[in-house]
Amino acid sequence: MPVTTHSPDQLYAPEGLESARSAFLQANPSYAATARLRDLRATEYARLDRQGHTYLDYTGGGLYAEGQVRRHWELLQENVFGNPHSVNPTSMAATRLVDEARAYVYDFFRASPDEYTVIFTPNASGALKLVGEAYPFAPGGHYLLTFDNHNSVNGIREFAQAKGAEVNYLPVVPPDLRINQERLDDFLGRAAPEQANLFAFPAQSNFSGVQHPLEFIEQAKAAGWDVLLDAAAFTPTNRLDLSVWKPDFVTLSFYKIFGYPTGVGCLLARKNALKKLRRPWFAGGTITIASVQGCGHVLADSEAAFEDGTVDYLNLPAVHIGLEYIDSIGVDLIHERVEALTSWLLDALTGLRHSNDAPLVRIYGPTDTESRGGTIAFNFYDPDARLVDYHKVEQLANGFNISLRTGCFCNPGAGELAHGLTADEMAEAFQNEERMTMDQFQAIVLSKHQKSAGAVRVSLGIASNFADVYRFLGFAAGFLDREAEVG
Ligand SMILES: Cc1ncc(COP(=O)(O)O)c(C=O)c1O
Repeated sequence: MPVTTHSPDQLYAPEGLESARSAFLQANPSYAATARLRDLRATEYARLDRQGHTYLDYTGGGLYAEGQVRRHWELLQENVFGNPHSVNPTSMAATRLVDEARAYVYDFFRASPDEYTVIFTPNASGALKLVGEAYPFAPGGHYLLTFDNHNSVNGIREFAQAKGAEVNYLPVVPPDLRINQERLDDFLGRAAPEQANLFAFPAQSNFSGVQHPLEFIEQAKAAGWDVLLDAAAFTPTNRLDLSVWKPDFVTLSFYKIFGYPTGVGCLLARKNALKKLRRPWFAGGTITIASVQGCGHVLADSEAAFEDGTVDYLNLPAVHIGLEYIDSIGVDLIHERVEALTSWLLDALTGLRHSNDAPLVRIYGPTDTESRGGTIAFNFYDPDARLVDYHKVEQLANGFNISLRTGCFCNPGAGELAHGLTADEMAEAFQNEERMTMDQFQAIVLSKHQKSAGAVRVSLGIASNFADVYRFLGFAAGFLDREAEVG
């Protein structure tokens, strides 16, 4: 645990980096085994240090290795690809690459093609919408979801409500923001046996970094629920093995895992669950036949029925390249490195205290690395426990070329519980006819209730190193003994 006996100016100063790194390596002997990632940082991600970036927003977007882009560019330069909806040579060349990318996705997630279908989408949100709009919600049926879901999972409640299903939120419990098993048992016991019941939760919260037990999947299925596992924030640093875990629907975005390309995600759906979905429309590519005069259409079998229009056929080979790249490193190695750095960061942050011994930060979520990922949400407080405005934090971080995230991270529920905001207080945001922005709401909540409606988030990933977290601690130490208004 770092000790803060120095003056704030000396704490985590640049000249202390080497000795801090030595101490870190000594305390984490297994970190040396992740040296491959240290080397890749110096080669494939050299642009970070060349431009003096401290990148701490991997949950927002992963970073690509230079080699991924080079390989993709060479492929595009040397070949001619046409729209895969034909059978001409250039079209067939594109089809082959799309098929290969799809096959690799099955392998990467150890999903059997007999059991799962890989559907390419524009992103995780696109995959979630596919499920939401086509799931057979009906009166008597249920949509159950945890409080700490991303808004793209929350948004499915609009489909559920419009079709008369009951929507229930399962709270996460501060301070760790985990699920209470008894409450889960209670909610899962309410499935309507004759109706469709969908339970959605994130494998890792993009707010708190909490990793919910994947055992929830089997428990919910045994209780009569279909399970939607949002794996967008989990997959960049954790193995998702679908030969072991059997959620009905899995959603993710590839850029979060390997940075490039953006604009491609996927829905991995169990074939049995996919059969339950009722698409609300058809599009080019999703049908085997459609007629204007006959006013009919027949949906294609399997993935084609869910991939509207032309798939992103020039970018899908880059997904293949990205997955191969991650496999060449091993996602478990990435996990190990991120876990060690997260552990140091959590200890160091919680160890920062003002001269009057008041803590500098309040972390929303677990303060150790047990069942949590490398995403940390928190706020800074001054010596008199007054909140430091996260806008100010972001502004100052920008000045140091530190990329972090502030606000509610599209995950309002976890924040509401973490900040102790009540349903009545939240309802105020929606009382007026006039639209309110998040910033306006934050200002009201702070002045009226002295509560924060947002936080600061730092997240680690594939190219993170000790210097990144150390530099961030130097920045954080700059808030010690400073008044909130002054920042
Ligand atoms: C847990 C989680 N789910 C879903 C999403 C949505 O991803 P996208 O914006 O790529 O659709 C995100 C993005 O941050 C996320 O973290």
